[in-house]
Amino acid sequence: MSEEIILKAESISKSFGGVKALQNVSFELKRGEVLSVIGENGAGKSTLMKIIAGALKNDKGEIYFEGEKLSLKSPLDAVKKGISIVYQEPNIFADMSVLENIFMGNEVVSRNKTIQWTKMYEEAATALELVGLSGDILHLTMSELSIGNQQLVLIARGIYKKCKVLILDEPTSILSHNESEKLFEIIADLKSRGVSIMYISHRIPEILRISDHIIILRDGCLTGAAVPKEATEESIITAMSGRSINMSVYEERKQGEKDILEVKNLSYDPLFQDISFGVRPGQILGMYGLVGAGRSEIARAIFGETNAQSGQVLFEGEDITHMGINQAIEKRIFYVPEDRGAQGLFDIHPVRDNMSVSFLDGLSNKFGIINKKKEKQLVQENIEKYSIKTPNQDISVNSLSGGGQQKGLICRWLLEKPKVLILDEPTRGIDVMTKAEIHKYVIELAKEGVAVIVISSDLPEVMELSDDIITLYKGRITARFDREHVTEEDILKNALNLKEE
Ligand SMILES: Nc1ncnc2c1ncn2[C@@H]1O[C@H](COP(=O)(O)OP(=O)(O)OP(=O)(O)O)[C@@H](O)[C@H]1O
Ligand SMILES: [Mg+2]
Repeated sequence: MSEEIILKAESISKSFGGVKALQNVSFELKRGEVLSVIGENGAGKSTLMKIIAGALKNDKGEIYFEGEKLSLKSPLDAVKKGISIVYQEPNIFADMSVLENIFMGNEVVSRNKTIQWTKMYEEAATALELVGLSGDILHLTMSELSIGNQQLVLIARGIYKKCKVLILDEPTSILSHNESEKLFEIIADLKSRGVSIMYISHRIPEILRISDHIIILRDGCLTGAAVPKEATEESIITAMSGRSINMSVYEERKQGEKDILEVKNLSYDPLFQDISFGVRPGQILGMYGLVGAGRSEIARAIFGETNAQSGQVLFEGEDITHMGINQAIEKRIFYVPEDRGAQGLFDIHPVRDNMSVSFLDGLSNKFGIINKKKEKQLVQENIEKYSIKTPNQDISVNSLSGGGQQKGLICRWLLEKPKVLILDEPTRGIDVMTKAEIHKYVIELAKEGVAVIVISSDLPEVMELSDDIITLYKGRITARFDREHVTEEDILKNALNLKEE
C-alpha cells in the first residue's frame, strides 16, 4: 500500500437545527486502503460520508482531494472527480432496467446529444464484471434481482467511472453470509487496483478483518483511531460506547408443553414449499437462510398478508390459515417486517406516530379514543430505553439515522404484549450496544411466555438467541437443530444445501 494521501478532511462540522451531527472531524485516507468508520447509531457516520460524496454541505471545515481543496456542487460532481457512494438506504429505481439504474442521470451522450446505448452497454457490462455479475442482467428490471445483487449493481454503478474513492455505507447489513464474502473479495480486488474505500458497518468482526485503519465517532466527534492488528472486538466496543458490554444474553427458561403456532405443509409456489414447523410459548425459534430463501414470504403468509396455496397454519389449535392481518393482530400474532422503508415506517410522519401502538387497544379507551398523554409518555420511555437520538417526538421519522429508524420500528411492537412475535432481521443496521439491548428484550418476552420467531441473516445473532434453529434453502426447510447440538458449520451447510462429500 502506498502512503500517498488521496483524501484529507479537516475539522468538518455539520448541524441539523439543534443537532450537532459532526464536530471538528479530521481524518486522512490513503490510496488503496480500507478506512472504516464505526460508531453507535446516530454518531454521524452517514452524515460524514454524504459530505464527502457531495450530497450534503458541511457548515465548517475543508476537504482536500489529491492535494487540492475540494468543493462539490452535487453528488454527480463528486462522481466525475472519482468519489462514489453506495448509500445506507439504497436508492434504486425498481421498475427500471439494471442498465438505466447504473447510468441514472449520467447517460453517455454524443456531441449531438443522442444517448449512446451501445457504449453504455459495454461500459456497464465491464463494471458488472468487476463485481462478478454477468452483463446478461442489464436488461432485467432491478426488482427482478435479489437484494444482494441489487447491492452489487449499486457498487458497479459506483465504480464504473474511474473511481478513486468508494464509500460503502453499511453494505453488508442487507447481505447474506455468502454475498458478504463476495463483497470482501471485490473490496480486495479494488484495493489492489489502488481504489481507496471508506467502509461503514456495525459488524465488528468484519471491520477487524477487512480494514487497514479504523476511526471511531461518538456523538459527532472523532474519539479514537485503531488498527485491526492491535484491536479486539471488546476494545472497539469500549471505544465506541465508552463502556464494555456483555453480548451473551441467552438464558434457560421454561417453555410451554405444546406448540402455540403450528405450520403444516404450507406451500406457495414458487416462493416456498411444504413448510412444517411448530413453536412453543416461551420458545425462540431462529430461521436462517440466504436472502431469497423464502423466510419473509413464510412469515407474511403466517401473518395473513398473503394466502398460501395449500397447507395449514394453526394457532392454539385453531385453523387460521385464511385469516387476514387484522385478525392476526387481534390474536396477538405480530410480524415486524424487514424492509422498514416499504412496509414498516410511515416516512414523513412524526417519530411519535411511528413508535406508537395507538392502533392497538392499549392506548385507546373503550370508544377508541387515544390517550395522547399516555402515548407521549410511553413513546418517550422507549426513546430513552433504546437511546434513540432525536430532538423530539414531532420531527419526521426519515430524519433519524438508519439505526434510529429501525429501533423506532421494533419498539413499537415490543410495547404491546404479543403471543407470537415474528421478527424479520430485527437488528439490521443496529449498533452492537443496542443490539444487545434488543436481544435482552427478546429473551424477556420469551420468559413471559411469548413464542418468538427470529428471521436473521446474522448467524451469530441466530445462534445467540435461538433455542431451536431452522435452516431454509430455496423455499424448503433443510434442517432443524436445537442449540445444544449445533455448530456454525451445520447451519451454513444446510442453509447452502451442501451435501456431505
Ligand atoms: N436530514 C436530517 N435532518 C435532521 N437531522 C438529521 C438529518 N440527517 C441526520 N440527522 C441527525 O444527525 C445525527 C447523525 O445521523 P447519521 O445518519 O449521520 O448517523 P449514523 O452514524 O449514520 O447512524 P446509523 O448507524 O444509525 O446509520 C442523528 O442524530 C440524526 O438524527
Ligand atoms: Mg448511517
